[in-house]
Amino acid sequence: MRLVLGIESSCDETAAAVVAEDRRILSNIVLSQLEDHRAYGGVVPEIAARAHLDHIERVVSEAMATAEVGFADLAGVAATTGPGLIGGVIVGATVGKSLALVHDKPFIAVNHLEGHALTCRLTDNVPFPFLLLLVSGGHSQFLSVAGVGQYRRLGGTIDDAVGEAFDKTAKMLGLGFPGGPAVEQAALSGDAARFALPRPLLGRPGADLSLSGLKTAVRLAAEKLPAPVSAQDLSDLAASFQAAVGDLLADRLKHALADFLAEHPGGKHVVIAGGVAANKALRARLQTTVATAGLELVAPPLKLCTDNGAMIAWAGLERLRRGESHGFDAPCRPRWPL
Ligand code: KG4
Ligand code: ZN
Repeated sequence: MRLVLGIESSCDETAAAVVAEDRRILSNIVLSQLEDHRAYGGVVPEIAARAHLDHIERVVSEAMATAEVGFADLAGVAATTGPGLIGGVIVGATVGKSLALVHDKPFIAVNHLEGHALTCRLTDNVPFPFLLLLVSGGHSQFLSVAGVGQYRRLGGTIDDAVGEAFDKTAKMLGLGFPGGPAVEQAALSGDAARFALPRPLLGRPGADLSLSGLKTAVRLAAEKLPAPVSAQDLSDLAASFQAAVGDLLADRLKHALADFLAEHPGGKHVVIAGGVAANKALRARLQTTVATAGLELVAPPLKLCTDNGAMIAWAGLERLRRGESHGFDAPCRPRWPL
C-alpha cells in the first residue's frame, strides 16, 4: 500500500497530508493564514511566503504524526510546484524536495490545478473521462479530462476568475475577507430578484466566461443604494450577484457539455472543483443543469474543495503509480496551465 505525503503552499494555506493508494486520507492538516491577511483585505504575497516558512515544519510534522507514519513508510513526497504565489510555492517545494532527498524517496512535482482536478477520484473514485469545471480564486475553466495529464480546455474566463469576482464583490459590499463564504452567507437572507444584473456572454456559442461586466454592475448598484445602507440591502445585492453567477455558469456549462459529449459520447460525470465549488447555492444550480442532461454532478466535500494537502498527495500518487517522479531541479512556476 503506497503512502504519499503532499505539501501545499501556493496561496494562503500552509497544508500537508498523508494519503494512501486505497484512497484513505490518513491526515489532512490545513493552517489558514486568514488572520495574517485580513487587515489588507486580500492575500499579500510577501506575508504569505514568510508565514509558510514560519509554519511549514509544524504542519508537516503534524501531518506525519496524525497519520502515525514515519518517512520510511512513504512511497514518495509530493509538493505543489505551481501555479501560484511564487514565494510560497518555493517554500513548500523546497521542503518537499529536501525531505525526499534526506529520506531517499521519489519527489513528485504537482500542478496545483491538477490537484483540484483529480480530487474527485480520491473522494468519489470518478472514472475518466469527465467534464471538469475548475473554479477558484485564480482560475475558472472547463476542461475535458480524458486521463491523468490529458486535459483539453473547452473554455474559460476571458477576464476575472469566479472566485476573484466573489472576493471583489465582498470587498465592495464590505462583507469581509475571504469573500466567497461571506457572499454566500449574506445571500442566504437576500432577495435575488431585487437587482437586475447582467449575465455576460449568456447564450453565446462556446464555453467562455466573463465576469468583469457583472462586477462593475455590482459596484454601480452598491453606489446607488440610498443611505443608510441596511444589512438587507447588502444581502439582496449579494444574492442577486450569486444568482447571476449561477445563471452564467449553468449556461456556459451547457455549451461545455455539448462539446464534451461530442468527444466522449459515453461520458457520465461532471465534476466541480476549486474553492468556489464549496458554494452550496452554485452546486445546487449546476446540479439541475447536469441532471437535466442525464449526467451526474460530483462535488468533493467542502473541506477538500479549498486548498489542502490531500489533493496534492493524491495527484502525486496518481503520477507515481504511472511511474512518474521528478528531479530536484523541477522548476517552481508562477504560471503553469494544465
Ligand atoms: O482553490 P482555492 O482555495 O484557492 C485558489 O487556488 O485560488 O479557491 C479560493 C477561492 C477564493 O476566491 C474564495 O473566495 C472562493 O474560492 N471561495 C468561494 C467559497 N469558498 C471559497 N466562493 C464562493 N462561495 C464559497 N462558499
Ligand atoms: Zn486552489
